[in-house]
Amino acid sequence: MSNELKSFLEGLDSLAHDCESRKGQACSLKELDELRIEFLGRKGMLAQAMAQLGALDNTDKPAAGKKANEIKQHITALIDSWQLDLTATEANHALSLFDPTMPGRKPWAGSLHPVTLVMDEVCNVLTGLGFEHAAGPEVENDWHNFEALNIPPEHPARDMQDTLYVSDNIVLRTHTSGMQIRSMLQQEPPVAVIAPGKVYRRDSDLTHTPMFHQIEGLLVDRNVSMADLRGTLTAFVRQIFGAQTEVRFRPSFFPFTEPSAEVDISCVMCGGKGESGGSTCRVCKGTGWVEILGCGMVDPNVFKSVGYDPEVYTGFAFGMGVERIAMLKYNIGDLRMFFENDVRFLEQFA
Ligand code: DAH
Repeated sequence: MSNELKSFLEGLDSLAHDCESRKGQACSLKELDELRIEFLGRKGMLAQAMAQLGALDNTDKPAAGKKANEIKQHITALIDSWQLDLTATEANHALSLFDPTMPGRKPWAGSLHPVTLVMDEVCNVLTGLGFEHAAGPEVENDWHNFEALNIPPEHPARDMQDTLYVSDNIVLRTHTSGMQIRSMLQQEPPVAVIAPGKVYRRDSDLTHTPMFHQIEGLLVDRNVSMADLRGTLTAFVRQIFGAQTEVRFRPSFFPFTEPSAEVDISCVMCGGKGESGGSTCRVCKGTGWVEILGCGMVDPNVFKSVGYDPEVYTGFAFGMGVERIAMLKYNIGDLRMFFENDVRFLEQFA
């Protein structure tokens, strides 16, 4: 063997040893790629060694070429096996960064708004007593909202200060009582309806919002009496606020009922004592009673405006503010909470 061939072959062997000695040096797939280029790249160490091949004697070339191929395969196999190892190591590392036994994130479920909760509950109790659900427009005409309800043109409720007018004759309904008229026009007695919905007033301060919710009730038949009104509302109130709740009817005035009353219940906070923890009750201001709704016997003039004969039929009506009932029921001190949509408040009702 010529000396040239000998040194060529030795050069290839030392290249292989060189590569073997680099085992464990590449710590990432990226570093291994660099190593691969260093040895096997177009200008890499093997390519440089091969460049010497041309200078060899023709008789030495077959042996030199054969050896060069073997070394190339050897180095390629080495680097390939390291690549397999590194790939596995990197995958294990990625896996170790997360714990597959950890509980997943729960989807965040919403909750019903307290106004919706109270609205549903009140409606459920009243439909349980036999009332049927009625719905009508929030943009209402003067006749349904005022005139047919015996509210004369000079009545203060009609003042621009209190009512949101759309035009001379059209208003945003100021109460759900107009639904009494719509319901009676749609059917002959007996009538037993409830009408929940939004109402609007030009009012905005600590205890008033320009939009709030009411639920209206109406019962018309022969021989409906004030005793029926008392019995119905007492049963209703005790289902909503609990069986121990005291109920009192206090004389009042509404244009569309005669006689009229406001219903008070024993204070939900102090149980009617007027004080809690030694100080005056904040909810009832020491009176022991809180007002929850207005009611009365349907005024004959209202029957006349819908063509019912007041000599034949009598009826009772009632109307309540939903936010007010929700405040009492859930002990909420500030009306604005209902409209701020703070999730920390809302999620308490989940
Ligand atoms: N509409 C009245 C209001 O908004 C509430 C009301 C009082 C409704 C007496 C009635 C009723 O049906 O009989 O303040």
